[in-house]
Amino acid sequence: MDKKTYYIQTFGCQMNERDSETLAGMLAELGYRENPFRSRAQVVILNTCSVRENADKRFFGTLGQLKKQRLEEPEGVVAVCGCMMQQQHVIDTLKAKYPWVDLVFGTHNIHQFPELLQSVMAEQSRRVATWEEGGEVVEGLPALRKYPFKAYVNIMYGCNNFCTYCIVPYTRGRERSRKPGDILAEVKGLAAEGVREVTLLGQNVNSYQGPGTLAGEDVTTFPRLICMLQEVEGLERIRFMTSHPKDLSRELIRAYADCGKLCRHIHLPVQSGSTEILRRMNRRYTREDYLSLVERLRDAVPEIAVTTDVIVGFPGETEKDFQDTLDLVEQVRFDSAFTFLYSIRKGTPAEKYGDQVPEEVKHSRFNQLVEAVNAISAEKNRAWVGRTAEVLAEGPGKGGGRNQSGRTSGHKLVNFTAKEEVTGRLVPVKITSANTFSLEGEMV
Ligand code: SAH
Ligand code: SF4
Ligand code: F3S
Repeated sequence: MDKKTYYIQTFGCQMNERDSETLAGMLAELGYRENPFRSRAQVVILNTCSVRENADKRFFGTLGQLKKQRLEEPEGVVAVCGCMMQQQHVIDTLKAKYPWVDLVFGTHNIHQFPELLQSVMAEQSRRVATWEEGGEVVEGLPALRKYPFKAYVNIMYGCNNFCTYCIVPYTRGRERSRKPGDILAEVKGLAAEGVREVTLLGQNVNSYQGPGTLAGEDVTTFPRLICMLQEVEGLERIRFMTSHPKDLSRELIRAYADCGKLCRHIHLPVQSGSTEILRRMNRRYTREDYLSLVERLRDAVPEIAVTTDVIVGFPGETEKDFQDTLDLVEQVRFDSAFTFLYSIRKGTPAEKYGDQVPEEVKHSRFNQLVEAVNAISAEKNRAWVGRTAEVLAEGPGKGGGRNQSGRTSGHKLVNFTAKEEVTGRLVPVKITSANTFSLEGEMV
């Protein structure tokens, strides 16, 4: 075992990744460094997710693998945190079956991690510390970021929407927004350190500083926040994730026209193309609302890339409902879509819905949907061949034979060849060929 080293495994979304960066920053302040080998690290942290497909099974699988390492190393620490730790049945399982896990904490009390870790180490006793209620927004926590040139910036935490399939409102608590001044200061600091692109994070950024914001506080709207950040010197791109269709305002659509740094991309999860299923999901918009929203976005910003999330096999989904989803996908022609097989989350309203869709029907619909989505993605990508796109160079990617990869303003992945060292810069790339999930090109 290498003393004073750590290894963090992240199972979830961007918010989960951002939390891992905070944990890494705290560990660095305690004098720990990252260990590339989990088996050699003194502190192993598993940052869990309750939504992603099989993330729970992968978590328990990984935990099982850690048992031997932990029992053989009296000075080792295994800590588990993240969204699953906000679910009581998970805590009960950990207590009953994994007594050798040293530290359990949740998403609301990450700022207590250094204290908790030190007490576990000093007392060699186990700590389970999760908070049910979402706490105050804690400012000023350190972070060890993955990239020097792009960064995630939380603007709000939690979710108030209670879509009937979703566990997030229970694991992340109610919406809490950071103050505009704190966000601006963070982004200015990041830009001064060389960050070119920020992604503003929240489960539903459109309701930034919505209900719960105190009168008289430093207040603004999400589009105005974007325009404020637009002025930050050195910053070249602004992105955000995720926006809920029911709250997408005209003002936000206008922000694309007014703010040149705002990337020409929106991730706008539709979930279903059937108004009846959307009602049962508690999404609070109809199929027609969604279609007209996309139309308005494209009228205002013709080159905007639209991506989405779709769930297949929600309880009660009929063949007709599914055809409505396929039809919506064909009409909108998404640049790409994350497709999910509906799966039950304990404690959500949809868990109790009687008419669950049989597995084989779900899978067959899922395959049809993926095929439709991919064909459209490939076609949209082909339309880029011959054009030149601006790409933020991120260094070598997985695309064989190319020395650079990066994203366009529309969030398309490009593997390209550059003759000089360009990592961290925005560069023009001529697109020479297209695949379903990426583009290929040469820097010009
Ligand atoms: N806040 C974001 C999404 C968070 S979860 C939003 O509202 O858009 C990411 C995605 O996981 C969701 O958009 C949904 O498509 C999917 N998802 C959530 N719960 C699910 C479940 N129980 N089964 C299948 N997919 C689910
Ligand atoms: Fe979940 Fe809906 Fe909130 Fe998104 S908006 S996190 S899907 S409850
Ligand atoms: Fe993200 Fe998974 Fe939690 S998607 S918010 S890490 S449940």
